[in-house]
Amino acid sequence: MAAKEPQSQSKTKTSAQESRPSRPRLRGKVALVTGGSRGIGFAIARTLAAEGCSVVITGRDGATLAKSAAELRRLLPRRPNAHHDNGAKIVAEVCDVRDPNSVASLFAMVKQRFGRLDVLVNNAGIAQPAVAIEQTSLDIWRDAIDTNLTGLFLCTRAALPLMQAGATIINNLSVAARAVFPNFAAYNASKHGALGFTLSLRDELIPRGIRVVALMPGATATDLWQQFWPDAPRERMVDVESVAQAVLYAVLLPPNANLSEVVLTPTGGAL
Ligand SMILES: NC(=O)c1ccc[n+]([C@@H]2O[C@H](COP(=O)([O-])OP(=O)(O)OC[C@H]3O[C@@H](n4cnc5c(N)ncnc54)[C@H](OP(=O)(O)O)[C@@H]3O)[C@@H](O)[C@H]2O)c1
Repeated sequence: MAAKEPQSQSKTKTSAQESRPSRPRLRGKVALVTGGSRGIGFAIARTLAAEGCSVVITGRDGATLAKSAAELRRLLPRRPNAHHDNGAKIVAEVCDVRDPNSVASLFAMVKQRFGRLDVLVNNAGIAQPAVAIEQTSLDIWRDAIDTNLTGLFLCTRAALPLMQAGATIINNLSVAARAVFPNFAAYNASKHGALGFTLSLRDELIPRGIRVVALMPGATATDLWQQFWPDAPRERMVDVESVAQAVLYAVLLPPNANLSEVVLTPTGGAL
């Protein structure tokens, strides 16, 4: 006869248990989420980990990364009646996507630890203060371009040798990759450039069977808004879970299909 569960566990499920699917669909796969320590990236990492995927998360702040990794480890699906996980791993690695050396050591670690990469989520990104062109300093410009565009290029270039047919690259762009917002020229330029890079990459990788997804969320409730509109109404924005679910849907498609452009916008009207 099976041992009786302690009352507290049998009656109330933890939120981690509730978000675990009954049959993990990404068992044995390896994903890397840049900027996976917070916001949209963390929600994507959580969704992939709950499906049994090994996940590497990166960011610049080591303390936040370590805390987020500990939370993800609690989510890894466990075999029934076993006290160990299914072999999936959560790895936190400090990396600044603007720095080619930092990116090179991140992917050297992935190669050494896993030898492959099935899902790359290029998510790390920043906004900018709302300023007219004349007030846009070279630092504001360089920060946006180096993080949102050059970082995406550096990570993709370093990841490709580890990726095989059937793999997926998700580039988290923004609706700002197509629409423009006055006083956000640096952000707009970085995201328009990133869309150009993404579309070129998509066509280049079709013969190799690697899918490329241009993810274009509208306003999403994260800390990003602190950078230019701290009081923005988060309740009217897309929630990070919805973005993560769209990513999961794209990753789980059969190899002969691609959701090449994903646009998610709030339904509550303009902010
Ligand atoms: N929130 C929105 O409304 C929205 C809408 C459309 C698209 N997006 C895009 O979604 C992505 C994630 O944004 P979010 O809203 O989730 O922002 P967030 O909550 O501020 O998170 C940003 C993440 O990126 C990391 N990051 C920033 N600069 C980095 C760098 N140089 N190297 C490595 N990691 C870096 C951050 O960690 P550290 O600070 O520790 O480095 C953090 O993990 C961005 O590309 C953003 O443009 C956001």
